[in-house]
Amino acid sequence: MTSREGSQLRRHDPAEVDRLLDPIVELYSEVYAEPPYNGGPLFSRERFLDRTNRQKDNDGFTLVTAHTGSELDGFAFGFPFPAGGWWRGATTPQPPTEILHVPKFAVIELVVRKTRRGHGLGHFLMNALLDGRPEPYAMLLAEPDAPARTMYQRWGWQQVAAVQPADDAPWLAALVIPLPH
Ligand SMILES: CC(C)(COP(=O)(O)OP(=O)(O)OC[C@H]1O[C@@H](n2cnc3c(N)ncnc32)[C@H](O)[C@@H]1OP(=O)(O)O)[C@@H](O)C(=O)NCCC(=O)NCCS
Repeated sequence: MTSREGSQLRRHDPAEVDRLLDPIVELYSEVYAEPPYNGGPLFSRERFLDRTNRQKDNDGFTLVTAHTGSELDGFAFGFPFPAGGWWRGATTPQPPTEILHVPKFAVIELVVRKTRRGHGLGHFLMNALLDGRPEPYAMLLAEPDAPARTMYQRWGWQQVAAVQPADDAPWLAALVIPLPH
């Protein structure tokens, strides 16, 4: 366990995820009601729960949380994709083969409570999630109009494709970064 700006960071194994899911869903719903997400269909509580309950059963699923006392300040989670694995849905253009054909760690969520932003907690959560990963790359999907999109660029992530993960989802920027970074 480490701390940042008074927030305690913890890594959790998959067995602990169920216990933490209620506050995570609460914070997710609060944050994804904000622009540019505006609580769109992909970002509803039901779709998030449905996805997360499936994703948490993947080998290597990892969750990192940040708390002040009992309050959840933020969280990040993800899981590894095997070589050849890629996002579901539509992709254009096809990702470079040197990325497609190797294992990748997919960062699925990175969320910080609005009142706790701008103090490095997001970056700290991301680094804690990726620390020690054996995969040669990490990947994530970012909404092109979200402030996070340019933040990732400043952190060294690069766009390799656009992905529409579901028919009713927006097209998202598929970003990758070499590991370790
Ligand atoms: C993206 C998010 C997790 C970042 O969390 P954070 O704790 O603010 O992250 P950090 O403080 O480490 O970095 C924020 C960056 O924005 C800049 N920033 C400046 N003022 C800021 C503010 N008031 N609020 C947020 N970020 C600010 C920071 O300078 C920093 O940029 P830098 O690393 O290039 O210096 C948070 O904004 C969030 O939860 N957004 C909504 C959910 C989301 O979009 N998640 C990403 C999905 S792909």
